[in-house]
Order: sequence, then structure tokens, then C-alpha cells
Amino acid sequence: MRIAVVGSGYVGLVAGACFADLGHEVVVVDNDERKLAALRSGHVPIHEKFLPELLSRHRGQRLTFSDDLQEAVRLSSVIFVAVGTPPTGSGEADLSYVESVAREISGGINSYKVVVEKSTVPVYTSEWVRKVMLRNGADPAMFDVASNPEFLREGTAVTDFLFPDRIVIGCDSGRSAAVLREIYAPLTEGRYSERPDAIPQPDRASIPAPIIVTSTKSAELIKHASNAFLALKISFINAVASICESVGANVNQVVHGVGADSRIGPKFLNPGIGYGGSCFPKDVAAFRAVARECNYEFRLLDEVTRINEEQRQRFLRKIHSALWTLRGKNLAVLGLAFKGGTDDIRESPAIFLVQALLQEGSKITAYDPAAMERTREVISSGIKFANSAYEAAHNADALLILTEWEEFANLDLLRLRSELKYPIVIDGRNLYDPEVMAAQGFTYYSVGRAACHPDGVPAAALRNGKKA
Ligand code: UGA
Repeated sequence: MRIAVVGSGYVGLVAGACFADLGHEVVVVDNDERKLAALRSGHVPIHEKFLPELLSRHRGQRLTFSDDLQEAVRLSSVIFVAVGTPPTGSGEADLSYVESVAREISGGINSYKVVVEKSTVPVYTSEWVRKVMLRNGADPAMFDVASNPEFLREGTAVTDFLFPDRIVIGCDSGRSAAVLREIYAPLTEGRYSERPDAIPQPDRASIPAPIIVTSTKSAELIKHASNAFLALKISFINAVASICESVGANVNQVVHGVGADSRIGPKFLNPGIGYGGSCFPKDVAAFRAVARECNYEFRLLDEVTRINEEQRQRFLRKIHSALWTLRGKNLAVLGLAFKGGTDDIRESPAIFLVQALLQEGSKITAYDPAAMERTREVISSGIKFANSAYEAAHNADALLILTEWEEFANLDLLRLRSELKYPIVIDGRNLYDPEVMAAQGFTYYSVGRAACHPDGVPAAALRNGKKA
């Protein structure tokens, strides 16, 4: 099938590359000439596993890049709209890019087309896209508008796309549903995973991928409700973690017991410094705004956001209670990205904390496997960047773990302790077992678990891993 994907951001680029890998002819359209030139010349703008392979496999063949939207529409049967929907000041999604794309698409309709929303958009957007296209002269018999929300996570976006838990297509006509079913047939019939050149499947992949066909409005709501519910799970467990800290319980044990209930499940119950990224904070606010417009005060979502913001403040207070004053202290920071496996720092709790610590006069040496370049663009002074976790820890007064990168969960603890000036670790992602840390000579603080001190040895008496 010939597909146009409008927008070469995270979702657009991954979707375009994956559609090409499923065997479709794809043109990715963007109005940023610089971005297009970079993509054409082989540059991969985001840190995403398997994306470089897919781009080099299909670039210039089944996957092309263009700035001519109307021409792309004319040549394609399906147009996926994956442009940005940034938040406005009041939390609503700004749909002006979606509107201007809809306007332009109308001018390129020369045969039946399915226009598919792939960006996360509020319910009723499909109705608006349709209205805008009709106002701009599109023949109602020549197009349908559908919704096909994307559930990919940054860091595992390619495998999430090719081995999804479910594919949701929201269509109000049988004709558009048939087109979308055909596009995803290699996944829903299990053919893709059998190919020798398929991207390796993750553990416990659902093959063939289940497909859920709904009305367009239901599909729009499924996306917002899914993200809001996942954010709610995280805020819920962070609130439980705070109670654990007050009463001396262990949040890991609580999660184990709660998550074992198959109706609840253990996923997305990892406590920490709160969720970040370009999706949850924005989508919870946008869903809240949609509900308000529909005359429903979804106050539960206000509380989800409040707990998330409070979680960062609690962590700051924890750093204070561990280190007393912060002015002039050398702090090692592991992790700047909003989560492991990505270079994305948008709404990163780690960046928020680094900025707060710098403001209090701390000196930061940070290490992140992928996000240091991007951090340099937003924080220019008071911070140094290291080439490894150990280099960051060298001579630091304490080590903070702010992102759940796998490599931070597997550090050589003996080496780490010998690098630190004081063996103090404040872990915002619960990557270590407190008892192991204490046995290794660390004073260790984490989230929802009691602080641990080196067995029988006061923290201040330890220097460079040895008793002073
Ligand atoms: C999220 C959703 O998981 C995807 O399904 C969705 O497609 C995407 O948003 C989107 O709407 O585009 P993503 O933002 O990439 O994906 O990241 P997540 O893995 O969901 O993590 C979000 C944040 O929650 C991170 O800061 C992470 O550290 C935090 N988190 C996650 C926790 O604090 N605890 C958890 O148990 C899980």
C-alpha cells in the first residue's frame, strides 16, 4: 500500500520506518527542509533501538522523504497525521498543526483516501479534521477520517510498533476499516515475525497482534485514557511509597503483594521521582481539559499530577536530609533522560532536580549514556559531564541516581565506593537492594524503603571505602 506519514517526529519517523518494513511504500512528509536533508543523508535524529537498521534498510527505496504534502497525498491511499500537538498554557492540546495539515490534504485528494490521526489528540478531533477538509473543498465521498493511536514507548518504540499488545483502529466506515486492516495484516496474521529479517521479537510478544476495531471517538479516547491510567498507576504507587516511608514498610514488598493480583498486575508500579517525558504530563493535562469541555470535572487527574510534582519535591527534601546543606557540595548525578533507553529530556524529573540543586549552589558532575548532548543545550553552567558513572562519582560528596538506565543497576559497587568521597547513594529509581548497599559500605537512601547505613559503621567514618 502507498502511505504518506505527515510529521517526522518520534511517532512519524518510527511509524514510517516500520510501515516500510512491513512492505509498504512510504513517504514521510515534513516542512522542515533541514530535517529532511539530514534524514535523506542517513542521519538518525533520535536514539532508538533498531531505528538506524530500519532506516538504512529502506531509505531511498521503500522509504522516502518529502516536503510536498499535496503531492504525497495524491500518490498515497492512506495519510497518517503524526504532527505535534503541544500543550497550550491551559493544558489543552494545540491542534493548529493538525488543522493546517487537514487543510492542505484537502487540496491533494484525487481518489478515495483514508486520513488517519496518529498523533495523540482529544476526542472530536476526527470530526474537526473532517469539517476542515469539507470546508476546503474535499468531496465527502472521496475520503474518510480514522483514528489509529500509537502506544509506542520511547527506547523500545520499534519493537512496540512491530510487536504491539494491541492495534486499535477507530473507523466509522467499513471501507476505511478494511484499508487499515490491510496495512496491519502482516502483524495481525503473524506473517511479519516469521520473516528471517524481522526485527527480533521481545519476550512475551502477542503474536499475531490483536486488533481492536472501534468507532473513531472511542479510539481517540482509548489513547488518552490509557496514558492517564498508566500515569495514575505511577502516582498511586508513589503515594503508597510515601506511606511506606512514614511507617517503615518496604514498597517493593508492597508492590510484590499488590501486583500479584492478576486484576492489578505488577507493571507500571515502580516508585521513583515521578513520571516525565513528552507524553504523560501533556496527555494527563489534555485529557483533563477534554473532560472539562465535556462538563465532567475529572479531579482524579489533578491529583495524579499533584502527586507527581510532589514526588520531585520529596526527593529534594530527601537529599537535604541526607546531606544537610547543599551549597558547594559536589554531587554526582547518574541519569538525565526522563527514563532509561532514550536521549529525551523533555519534562525529565532528573533535569528538574539538577536545576533545583544548581540553584541551591551544588556543583554537579553528571553522566548519562545518551542524554548529555541534549542536556548541554538547556543547562550551560554549574554542570560538568563525565564519560562514565565512575568518573562522575570521583571525589563526590554523594551520588544521585535519577534515571533507570540498566547500566546504572549493574555498577561495580566496590569501585564506585572507592571513587566517592563519602559513600552516600541517594537512589530515585530503587535500582539497588538496601541491604546489599549497606553490606557494601554505603549509606543508601531510596524511595518507599527505609534508609540503610553500612553495617555497624557510621557513615562519616568511611572514606574511600575504608575506615578513616
Ligand atoms: C508512554 C506510554 O507508556 C506509551 O504507551 C505511549 O505510547 C507514549 O507514552 C506516548 O503517548 O507516546 P513513554 O513516555 O515513552 O511512553 O515512557 P514510559 O515508559 O511510559 O515512561 C514514562 C515515565 O514514567 C518515565 O519518566 C518513567 O521513568 C516513569 N515510570 C514508568 C515510573 O516512574 N514508574 C513506572 O513504573 C513506569
